[in-house]
Amino acid sequence: MQSVEFYRDEFISYLEGKVETKEPKNLYEPINYILALGGKRLRPVLALLTAELFDGDYKNALDAALAIEVFHNFSLVHDDIMDDAPLRRGKTTVHEKWDINTGILSGDAMLINSYQFFESYADDTFKELVQLFSKTAIEVCEGQQYDVDFENRDDVTIPEYLKMIEYKTAVLVATAMKMGAIIADTSIENQDLIYQFGRNLGIAFQLQDDYLDAFGNPETFGKQVGGDIIENKKTFLYLRAIELCDSSEKEMLQHLYSIEPTNPTEKITAIKTVFEQSGSVEATKKEIESYTQRAFSCLNQLNLPEERKDVLRIFGENLMKRTV
Ligand code: IPE
Ligand code: IPE
Ligand code: MG
Ligand code: MG
Ligand code: MG
Repeated sequence: MQSVEFYRDEFISYLEGKVETKEPKNLYEPINYILALGGKRLRPVLALLTAELFDGDYKNALDAALAIEVFHNFSLVHDDIMDDAPLRRGKTTVHEKWDINTGILSGDAMLINSYQFFESYADDTFKELVQLFSKTAIEVCEGQQYDVDFENRDDVTIPEYLKMIEYKTAVLVATAMKMGAIIADTSIENQDLIYQFGRNLGIAFQLQDDYLDAFGNPETFGKQVGGDIIENKKTFLYLRAIELCDSSEKEMLQHLYSIEPTNPTEKITAIKTVFEQSGSVEATKKEIESYTQRAFSCLNQLNLPEERKDVLRIFGENLMKRTV
């Protein structure tokens, strides 16, 4: 097995080799724009790494990794329209740089492209990968719909929230890893364990994403800080604060989460203070730690040399410390 940096570099070279600007430019330029903005490349790295964890060759997982990353980027283009987001990876979002219709159609083309990358796999592997991918893609849509529905509800529960983030985020991380396992042709038991590892890590990852959305450094975070608060997203920070604060603070929070002020700075500051003072920030950090530990316990059950698993342990630890 190689280092995370090695797999990331290999993936980026492979991706760059596939990029071409065709006509019509207004369809393909936005696709190349979002793909070139980079990002952490978390999911493709996990796909390649998992293939080698189970004694496969990462090269065989490159097309699946590409499918996952292009799908992820498609979901971001549409997500930014849905969330009315101005910034992505420190740059203007596709629908703001071009327009909403361009974002919709370029996103659609990326979704179709992502399926095409599976065409290089034969027979049973092809079928398994595409079945898993379609199941996951539908779950992502379900998660995204819950996320939007929750904006206009004031009775969202923590279990509902956890299911929502599992669907919109964690299943794709889990699937990236399971695809690596399928391509390495390992046992069903190993495939399931690594899927559960990815699922728990993905939940921790989205909890951290929600934390950074409120408390990230605007200079480096790459997205609009406070975006979730502006959009009245019922994140773990919000739901735990509601549980922890007294009735007058609760009323204030619920009121602030029902309005859309023209200048949101005051709303963001007031809400962040409640998140901190109520103990919700601390509770969120504990929850991130707890889901990371759940992921690690799946890893413990894998019958593999411990030093190989260490790569994934370090990866999980680093995700918890991330600032972007
Ligand atoms: C952003 O994903 C969307 C979420 C599911 C939180 P990433 O944080 O992996 O985005 P990039 O690809 O690194 O920009
Ligand atoms: C996005 O969740 C999940 C998907 C794109 C499927 P968020 O809306 O929290 O992601 P960011 O914060 O915009 O990256
Ligand atoms: Mg968003
Ligand atoms: Mg969203
Ligand atoms: Mg977010």
